Amino acid sequence: MIPTLEWTDAGVRFLDQTKLPVEETYVLARDHRDVAEVIRTMVVRGAPVLGVSAGMGVALGVLRSPARTPAELHAELNTICDTLAATRPTAVNLFWGIQRVRTLVETMLQQPGVSLDAVRQAAVTEARRMYDEDIAACRAMGQFGAGLMPRNGGVLTHCNAGALATCGYGSALGVIRAALESGSTLHVYADETRPFLQGARLTAWELLHDGIPTTVLCDNMAASQMRAGKIQAVIVGADRIAANGDVANKIGTYGVAVLAKEHGIPFYVAAPWATIDMATPTGEQIPIEERAASEVTHFNGRQITPEAAKICNPAFDVTPAKYVTAIITERGVLRAPYARSLTQAVEEESASV
Ligand code: MRU
Repeated sequence: MIPTLEWTDAGVRFLDQTKLPVEETYVLARDHRDVAEVIRTMVVRGAPVLGVSAGMGVALGVLRSPARTPAELHAELNTICDTLAATRPTAVNLFWGIQRVRTLVETMLQQPGVSLDAVRQAAVTEARRMYDEDIAACRAMGQFGAGLMPRNGGVLTHCNAGALATCGYGSALGVIRAALESGSTLHVYADETRPFLQGARLTAWELLHDGIPTTVLCDNMAASQMRAGKIQAVIVGADRIAANGDVANKIGTYGVAVLAKEHGIPFYVAAPWATIDMATPTGEQIPIEERAASEVTHFNGRQITPEAAKICNPAFDVTPAKYVTAIITERGVLRAPYARSLTQAVEEESASV
């Protein structure tokens, strides 16, 4: 399996996604500040793995903290969580991952006479459990989604929602992997995904690593390929899904969804439950990260735009729920109206606990 990240005794080891596909190198994060830096610089990226990375960051911060009393550790916990939360705003998984380890630590710190060693160990165990759960969620999405893929044909994806964006197997690419494992014959079309090129660099790399036939398309080629009948389904991941089913994902996803509708092609979203943000009513309220202009002005280190050109670089866009054929989660496949199916899934989950 592609080693996106790994908990080690020395810290968290990340495959450096900024160097792929040319170099396969690793970065070791020794404390929570290092984890914040690898998230900010996109050494690691993709919503599900950002959640687990942030959880491991909190655990690493707690583990390395010199605090000697519960009060000291509690004060430090706030700083650790704030540092990690200030990295990237759109993927709700990041905040979910922080909160999950934070809640555990806070609860333990309230117990009279608690040992700080026990708190530290529990934080690490929780973060490592999140890693295992993420892989299990990807496998479950694969099982639920495989039957939605064509038996034969082309599937378009945008950005990278694969093993590299999760702890392994992938969300959207996990569904593709599961369909292939069940005997479908698929050809993947990977949008290059300007400006950071997650599709060209990462999706193509990981699919070819697994021997999955892949064609890279420049972002402006999807329409003509759809019209030519090469694409039978679209599947993407998500960074945040609002309570009404609006989906924030990599910039350009919205355009792909509109094109899919025009050509009568189903548009699927695969995302673990941690991506669903019931506290955000619609896509309008989802914060969209604006990244550095240099990602647009420069290509491979060379300037490609005139000095005076104004630049905008939103990293994500919002696809209105009306374009989404189905949302595939580890709890099953949800259909429109999403306000109802999402609420129902939440109610079912709380009833089963
Ligand atoms: O900026 P990135 O590379 O972190 O953006 C990633 C995406 O938009 C993915 O499609 C999304 O996080 C889903 S990953 C399973």
